[in-house]
Amino acid sequence: MESQAKIVKALNKQMGKEFSSAYNYLASAAYFEEQELPGFANFFHIQAKEELVHAMKIFEFIHRIGGDTELLPIPAPKAGFESALDAFEQGLKQEKELASEINSLLNLATDEHHSPARVFMFWFVNEQVEEEALFTRCIKRIKLVGKDGQGLLMLDKEFAERKADSAEGPDA
Ligand SMILES: [Fe+2]
Ligand SMILES: [Fe+2]
Repeated sequence: MESQAKIVKALNKQMGKEFSSAYNYLASAAYFEEQELPGFANFFHIQAKEELVHAMKIFEFIHRIGGDTELLPIPAPKAGFESALDAFEQGLKQEKELASEINSLLNLATDEHHSPARVFMFWFVNEQVEEEALFTRCIKRIKLVGKDGQGLLMLDKEFAERKADSAEGPDA
């Protein structure tokens, strides 16, 4: 397969993963809506929107480099979470997987001497550092309050203040 075709194939795959992570975060948002924790739900609504932005960045880029778009199936999210902590731990796991896939894509672009794709991926590498830091911070804070209802309600208030377009956490 020629270099460009390999890159386009990998980009289409990554776009699918970004849509899929948006879908998973929507499942988390729905879970917190059901728990009547609207702040936590807000956090994941914003998270889902960010993943859609990532997917669309790739969508545009594929077109700009003259590649063919391939929209792959999006698997259904796993149903239900055990707790707030579980939802965030699954989020961190997902971000780590995304980071590793992005790293592979960057390595592919390097091996194939595809400079536009290489430079394009730099943004995603930085974004993944932010995402992992954000989830790690949230997990630590949720562990601090444990199952304490008051503590969770306090965190819910903080998460309610998270605004779209902010890569920072609720307490940053
Ligand atoms: Fe993403
Ligand atoms: Fe992400």
